[in-house]
Amino acid sequence: MDKNLPLASKIIWITGASSGIGEALSYEFAKRGALLILSSRSEQKLLTVKENLPLNSDKAKVLALDLEQLNELKNKVETALSYFGKIDFFVSNAGLAVKDFVINTPLEIDLKLMNINYFSSILITKSLLPHFMQRNTGHIVVTSSLSGKYGVPKIASYAASKHALHGFYETLRSEITDYNIDLTIVIPGIIKTEITAHALTGTGDKFGKIDKTFQTAYPADKAATKIVNAVMKKKESVFIGGSEGITLFLNRLSPWLFRRFIRNHPIKKMRQFKRTIGLK
Ligand SMILES: NC(=O)c1ccc[n+]([C@@H]2O[C@H](COP(=O)([O-])OP(=O)(O)OC[C@H]3O[C@@H](n4cnc5c(N)ncnc54)[C@H](OP(=O)(O)O)[C@@H]3O)[C@@H](O)[C@H]2O)c1
Repeated sequence: MDKNLPLASKIIWITGASSGIGEALSYEFAKRGALLILSSRSEQKLLTVKENLPLNSDKAKVLALDLEQLNELKNKVETALSYFGKIDFFVSNAGLAVKDFVINTPLEIDLKLMNINYFSSILITKSLLPHFMQRNTGHIVVTSSLSGKYGVPKIASYAASKHALHGFYETLRSEITDYNIDLTIVIPGIIKTEITAHALTGTGDKFGKIDKTFQTAYPADKAATKIVNAVMKKKESVFIGGSEGITLFLNRLSPWLFRRFIRNHPIKKMRQFKRTIGLK
């Protein structure tokens, strides 16, 4: 690997590396010279991603883990640190969505979502902080969502977990400035991945289908390039996606009006709105 590449010899630990945005991020970080630790539940899928990386096999490690098993994560952090003796970037990207109304969703699903999307992320971060502080360097990258900024029907616990990430990491940001630790919060819009197929319904079953809107959405590889560019520029926060990014602006401009606009059928309304203003 070329020593002149911008991320040469940087160690990057990515969760959710087996598919979608995390897989695309793995290829993009590797292209820029980084050494990788790939994590998710599926060891088999991670090994396939590892094989497809433009890296020698000793430059990437597979660390299978289930983020829902919070009591195992401290050990996983120790293992991750032992691979290359350090970690420079922690990319907290793994996530699970829900696709059902609140009335149909039992608390067990809400807890599962909070554990996977929120508590696992902050637990790993807390375990890595002493390492980052001791070395006076480190970069945390957190994949949030537009759902971390406002709510639309059928994704309440997903939105709750993403809102929680903002609360925690914005506060942490204010505490780590003296330690030269960077933090980038990524806000993807609608990215072409299988997230809706993997999403849980209130029964606990997978939704199983890729939503139509996601089939033609913003490509994951393009999203990964933009995310890595933003990380390298040490951006504090970045939106990634298509014209749905305008919702961030509308929500800031008039939350009252935006709530009324999006209340019933957000995606349908968004398509109509985009047509009205000539975006598609
Ligand atoms: N796609 C979008 O439009 C979109 C929009 C906004 C935000 N996001 C966020 O982007 C991130 C990546 O999502 P994606 O779109 O790439 O979806 P995806 O293709 O479903 O990827 C989700 C990743 O998370 C891993 N994961 C799920 N549960 C896990 C668990 N219990 N333990 C460990 N790993 C687990 C999955 O791997 P295994 O199944 O192997 O465990 C997979 O690698 C998520 O945080 C998501 O909320 C996506």
